[in-house]
Amino acid sequence: MRFLGLSGGFPGGNTEQALLAALRAAQTAATTPATISLVRLKELSIGSEALDGHLPLPVVGKSNPTSGPVVDDRPFILDQIMEADAIILGAPCITRTIPWEVKCFQDSTLGPFQDVTMAKRLVDAGKGHLVDQRIFKPRVIALVTLGGASTTEWAPFTLPLLHQVFFPLGAQIVDQMQVFGVGVPNSLVSNGEAVARAEELGRNLAQQAHAMTEEGARYVGPRGKCPVCHLSMFNFVGQDAVDCATCGAKGRMGFGEDGHVEFVTNAEGESFSILRRSGLEKHLQDLEQGVQVQEVSVKVSDIKEELLKLGQSWVVAPPS
Ligand SMILES: Cc1cc2nc3c(=O)[nH]c(=O)nc-3n(C[C@H](O)[C@H](O)[C@H](O)COP(=O)(O)O)c2cc1C
Repeated sequence: MRFLGLSGGFPGGNTEQALLAALRAAQTAATTPATISLVRLKELSIGSEALDGHLPLPVVGKSNPTSGPVVDDRPFILDQIMEADAIILGAPCITRTIPWEVKCFQDSTLGPFQDVTMAKRLVDAGKGHLVDQRIFKPRVIALVTLGGASTTEWAPFTLPLLHQVFFPLGAQIVDQMQVFGVGVPNSLVSNGEAVARAEELGRNLAQQAHAMTEEGARYVGPRGKCPVCHLSMFNFVGQDAVDCATCGAKGRMGFGEDGHVEFVTNAEGESFSILRRSGLEKHLQDLEQGVQVQEVSVKVSDIKEELLKLGQSWVVAPPS
């Protein structure tokens, strides 16, 4: 069993301490020999050009000619991810959201470039040689976030955004935790409750990684209002229509028998979730319809030319 920790925090910082506590507990709980690795996302050097072996998408291939070549760690980190059976992704809250290095890693390495639904399409079309077959391996994920604030309004976006990192792989999130009031160095290890929770999360990950090979993994973390992602951030998209902002499940707000507000959804609403294969498939169909080649009219060409000229006269290049 291969466990991988991915830290978006500073080396030796609170996030890393939480991940190490969780990974140590996972190693102890594993029923087969465990291999553990930890990668610091802040240490990755990420190239600016499309990566060889990424799924061939029409939008990729942009490079920044002023940046010059850099050592590219993406093949390394992708290999670590593809080999892993169980991953803990951790990040501190920075200005109410995730650190930029986590987003940079996500957008340049994962996202549509490692999408299990697109990979399946390629295989079905006889282009399986373009796909790293390890993408189809089932994986379980646990998420960890923490921050200095002790109140919820200062850390609303971290867990929802960490959910976006691995969904294209079709990986299953089995637990998630958020710690408040962890702002100064070593405050995680000084918080016995937080360490115990990190250890529980590690054990849960190991148990669900094991279950994945038999009856299938399941979510065992704290319950949120959305029954799919178990977070509670919502997007009002119509008179009564509500999307789960984290995972896209569709429904409406109602009142439960206990009188508390609840998110009311059903199998159809849940099928839109990005955490379901059906949700990924719906999105791919949507994109395929959108990129169907359209005749470019003379009028569109004229507007394009005009905007291009404006861009050439208005863009101001940075000194680098
Ligand atoms: C620039 C900056 C912005 C921060 N913004 C927030 C914030 O909005 N909410 C919060 O709870 N903590 C915030 N923090 C505190 C960090 O989340 C906290 O120090 C955390 O322990 C750092 O994790 P690390 O040691 O793993 O890097 C911020 C820290 C920095 C340096």
